[in-house]
Amino acid sequence: MSKFEILKKEEFVPNFYKLDISVPTIARKAKAGQFILVMVDERSEKIPLTLIDWDKEKGTISFIVQELGLSTSKMAFMEEGDSFYSIVGPLGEPAYLENFGTVVVSGGCYGVGATYPIAKRLKELGNHVITIIEAKNENLLYYEEEFKTVSDEVILVTTDGSKGERGHIYDVLEHMIESQQRKIDHIKVIGCNVMMSKVSKLTKEKGAIPTYATVTTIMVDGTGMCGSCRLSYDGKTKFACVDGPEFNAHKIDWEEIIHVRNTLYISEETLSLQNFSPECRSLAKYQEKSREEETS
Ligand SMILES: Cc1cc2nc3c(=O)[nH]c(=O)nc-3n(C[C@H](O)[C@H](O)[C@H](O)COP(=O)(O)OP(=O)(O)OC[C@H]3O[C@@H](n4cnc5c(N)ncnc54)[C@H](O)[C@@H]3O)c2cc1C
Ligand code: FES
Repeated sequence: MSKFEILKKEEFVPNFYKLDISVPTIARKAKAGQFILVMVDERSEKIPLTLIDWDKEKGTISFIVQELGLSTSKMAFMEEGDSFYSIVGPLGEPAYLENFGTVVVSGGCYGVGATYPIAKRLKELGNHVITIIEAKNENLLYYEEEFKTVSDEVILVTTDGSKGERGHIYDVLEHMIESQQRKIDHIKVIGCNVMMSKVSKLTKEKGAIPTYATVTTIMVDGTGMCGSCRLSYDGKTKFACVDGPEFNAHKIDWEEIIHVRNTLYISEETLSLQNFSPECRSLAKYQEKSREEETS
């Protein structure tokens, strides 16, 4: 078996892939809430992906990737037996986890998978775990069965109402808070920054329920040196890669993350994906093409 080899790859809903990789050094140390930096090939950028599972005995780690731009599209083309160029981790601080009482664990997009190890650990710590999973429609909902094994309740929510509640995580949360059926002691949220900022605003207004969000900032080196993942937090500068990625959501300057930090490279991201031509149907072909371009 070669280093960073894909042992198993599964597309369980369109554009979402679960990959199992052999990396014993990371599997031995991983904790819920941590992430890895992955390079597909020697020309790729490093992208952060959350560890969703690991097996210390077998030395394997798992992550779920949502196909979005160039790097994640390259991953979508990889097959079992292919190897990544590099994987570094585990990085970041583990999530803040203890026996809080009743905890709502919520995730949308890639965050559905990313919340799984957090829900699992919170359940082990004796919490009453309510999981909310959000997707655009029923075809994009995933991990429902897995969450049932680590949650006391699983609530599904789809934007179009095709399965579960209609709306978004914050709509479900608002209803839960207002109905006062159960006191919520702590909330975790992972997904796109806009959704997390709305959850944060809601829970701040509705009695400042402790809410922790995993920020999705651009990361480059993952060591706190390059500054690309910086955010303003409680009036101070923090680096998501070393101080986070999970933070008290009520202290985050969401406007800065959404409108300034994460829009810096949009034109480059769009261009690089356009150059990843559709006829290039495998990673091998892509790499060959890149090398030809380099030498021509
Ligand atoms: C701590 C953390 C954990 C994450 N975990 C997961 C995960 O488990 N699964 C998953 O599918 N996605 C995860 N992401 C998001 C993932 O890193 C981006 O979707 C990915 O980098 C996109 O790269 P791309 O080349 O495919 O797309 P691009 O077209 O390059 O980018 C698409 C969007 O992704 C974001 N992005 C791009 N480059 C980076 C970067 N280097 N670092 C962070 N964000 C970037 C930007 O918002 C950008 O607009 C995580 C992000 C962070 C910060
Ligand atoms: S990724 Fe460079 S400082 Fe965080």
